[in-house]
Amino acid sequence: MTIVVTGATGHLGQLAVQALLDRGAASTDIVAAGRNVDALESLAARGVRTAVIDYTDPSTLAAAFVGADKVLLISGTAAGQRAAQHGAAINAAKSAGVGHLVYTSAPRADDTSLVLAPEHAATEVLLRDSQLPFTILRNNWYTENYLDTARQAAATGEVVGSAGAGRVASASRVDYAEAAAAVLIGDRHLGRTYELAGDKAWNFEEFAAAVSELSGRPVTYRPVTTDQHVAILRQAGLDDGTAEFVAALDGNIRDGALDSSSTDLRKLIGRPTTPLAEGLASVFVHAA
Ligand SMILES: NC(=O)c1ccc[n+]([C@@H]2O[C@H](COP(=O)([O-])OP(=O)(O)OC[C@H]3O[C@@H](n4cnc5c(N)ncnc54)[C@H](OP(=O)(O)O)[C@@H]3O)[C@@H](O)[C@H]2O)c1
Repeated sequence: MTIVVTGATGHLGQLAVQALLDRGAASTDIVAAGRNVDALESLAARGVRTAVIDYTDPSTLAAAFVGADKVLLISGTAAGQRAAQHGAAINAAKSAGVGHLVYTSAPRADDTSLVLAPEHAATEVLLRDSQLPFTILRNNWYTENYLDTARQAAATGEVVGSAGAGRVASASRVDYAEAAAAVLIGDRHLGRTYELAGDKAWNFEEFAAAVSELSGRPVTYRPVTTDQHVAILRQAGLDDGTAEFVAALDGNIRDGALDSSSTDLRKLIGRPTTPLAEGLASVFVHAA
């Protein structure tokens, strides 16, 4: 059995490799694949095999997938180029005769206003058209996306945003990594699309309350309009494009794009997902 994990040098990928090991996969059955050679060396210290890949260089993908039974394709980071990059990985997996490709997608990717979703939806279409046996893991937000927000909120006493009363069904990366490992090791997931989300979707008032509790300081949520949010972000030093993108994501949250009551994640990992406060706690370890 050979399981290739792409993006293994990243935050989620490293946790996925560890989750495979924790679930009993033999280290020699795992191929950790990524671009960063130093990070691959650290992974090799865990006993796994490694491969240097670049989604923009199909020959590296072909070489890495030789003999692979399963591939975890972790979505890339190059916005605007990702569908083509993921397509190259899917083609290479198909040519190599991979028996199961697992892809990390976005919530309700084919039916959402989420600004990040189109590249994931396009990848899902490529995957279905490829005829490869697949599983799609539509990961909701990582709680870790909000560590800086939590740090800042504790320092300033407020969370400012344009998400209104919208809810985010985030979970910790370790939860999604365990789910990916469970799907790779299990044998009942072919053809399935899972909406992976935290057990309890939270809104920013609840986020502020969690930060208040963790930091021991009063923290409140100050909702603003999209235009006000963009102006605040620009004033904080963000360039126009980034400020508009961040506000657009808050708009998606306001519209419910990250709300979810799916229990797929907790079922796959066999335990409750990491609660918001626990996911943010690392920020406050030294605050006491
Ligand atoms: N659900 C969410 O909240 C959320 C948030 C952020 C991102 N994401 C998505 O989830 C993915 C994993 O998240 P993460 O936190 O682990 O991200 P991350 O730490 O930035 O890791 C990204 C991984 O993608 C690899 N990669 C990027 N471009 C590549 C290319 N051209 N060829 C080969 N590998 C490439 C990187 O390899 P090297 O480091 O070796 O270059 C790295 O291993 C992200 O890439 C993004 O698509 C989801």
